[in-house]
Amino acid sequence: MLLKGWTALQRLRNVCVENLPYAECIKRYDSETTLFYCDPPYVDTEHYYGKDSFSQDDHYKLAGLLHGAKGKVMITHYRNGLYDELYKGWHRYEYQSFKGSHKSNGEKKPETLEILYCNFKPSRQRSLFDG
Ligand SMILES: C[S@@+](CC[C@H](N)C(=O)[O-])C[C@H]1O[C@@H](n2cnc3c(N)ncnc32)[C@H](O)[C@@H]1O
Repeated sequence: MLLKGWTALQRLRNVCVENLPYAECIKRYDSETTLFYCDPPYVDTEHYYGKDSFSQDDHYKLAGLLHGAKGKVMITHYRNGLYDELYKGWHRYEYQSFKGSHKSNGEKKPETLEILYCNFKPSRQRSLFDG
């Protein structure tokens, strides 16, 4: 376990954590060598993260910015017609997930289908714990 922690630490040693509104983050970091992974608030749960942090309009604004990005973009959302429309033409992958935002009373989180949209064809990802 200690070795795994050390390996993860080495992999993350140049990581910088920012706390920025998405538009500012994209503007500041977009380049040909950038990879954005976006996990925005889900449609109809925007208010979970504060009254004014993300509105329904922001799904459209975010999509506009990501379509214009020079870098690579990955974005996830539960299966949703609006997202299929906003990211039409991108590579689309479906996978089983759990509703992390589900407020439960201790019962198992409901399963859901999560969709990953990419503006590029991803190759196999190595694990954070691979040496
Ligand atoms: C579906 S959650 C993603 C959670 C994340 N994957 C995690 O594991 O913590 C949506 C995230 O969007 C963030 N968020 C909400 N409004 C935002 C905004 N205007 N700009 C950037 N991030 C925002 C929330 O704080 C929240 O962390």
